[in-house]
Amino acid sequence: MRGKIIEVILDIKNDFISGEELSKGLGISRTAICKYMKTLKEKGYNIEYVNRKGYRLIEDPKDLLTYQNISHKLNTKIIGNNIIHFETIDSTNNYAKKVALQKPEGTVIISEEQTKGKGRVGRQWHSKSKDGIWMSIILKPDMIPQKATFITSIAGASIAKALNDLGVKTTIKWPNDIIINNKKVAGILTELSAEIEKINYIVLGIGINVKTMEFSQEISEIATSLYKEGHKISRVDVIRKILKEFEILYLQYINKDSKGETLDICRQYSAIIEKDVYLIKGEEKELVRCLDINQEGNLIVRTKNNIKREIISGEVSIRGIKGYV
Ligand code: BTN
Repeated sequence: MRGKIIEVILDIKNDFISGEELSKGLGISRTAICKYMKTLKEKGYNIEYVNRKGYRLIEDPKDLLTYQNISHKLNTKIIGNNIIHFETIDSTNNYAKKVALQKPEGTVIISEEQTKGKGRVGRQWHSKSKDGIWMSIILKPDMIPQKATFITSIAGASIAKALNDLGVKTTIKWPNDIIINNKKVAGILTELSAEIEKINYIVLGIGINVKTMEFSQEISEIATSLYKEGHKISRVDVIRKILKEFEILYLQYINKDSKGETLDICRQYSAIIEKDVYLIKGEEKELVRCLDINQEGNLIVRTKNNIKREIISGEVSIRGIKGYV
């Protein structure tokens, strides 16, 4: 019922709706409406009550990453049908892994803060409260584990597409960093539980720096946020757009084995195709030219000796010749 009330006041935006209208429309007493409004206020919704006019939402509560806010006009089939929201948690990926087998496919775990946010290769992912989008999606595709790596490309494509559609010029540093102005704004951490021939579940972790203005010294040169780059957009809008884009590309892949649109987006927004980069593996550093992303989602490069090579994600890390990209 709380959800329905939120739907109604979100729909009428800025206008008043009387307790009587609400009570008739929803088929509950005015006392019940009053109680629900109190709970909503406690949850952070800025609801005003004016005598003889009724209730009104004073400001758009877009900064709350609750199911009600995100699911409003989301219209996806599976991704985001179930959203579990925390104020704080160690890591949404860790929580998602714990509950993955009991939750339906497409469940999204979101936390305002992570106390032990994880980045790739054992790095820490700074996840201060309300500064960003820290979320994990539980996926259960019926496919062999070898096909799971492409899910990271789908995620990268959907984040880049979503942000560009929202007016934020972003590129993808293959395979899973999202870049604005040569700095990293988002990262993807895909974790897999599988048997030899079958995936049990995939946890797709997405971290996007939204409001962060100060980064720790070790990453300040290479990290940025949407706000820092001048894009004051709401976290809810970004999440909704990403979930929608992700579902489109994900369903194409799992239902039709179709990768075309994802690959087109990855190529279109690539930060490294037609650029020279260093491939870094341990102490080794090799200068190569990036040529393309192939049908598998792997990177094709040309070495100094004019040999074409296919680079599989996770094999190496990539650095630009002048810096991060
Ligand atoms: C990277 O670029 O190193 C990947 C960063 C992934 C961070 C996200 S935030 C939500 C999810 N939970 C985690 O602990 N990590 C991922």
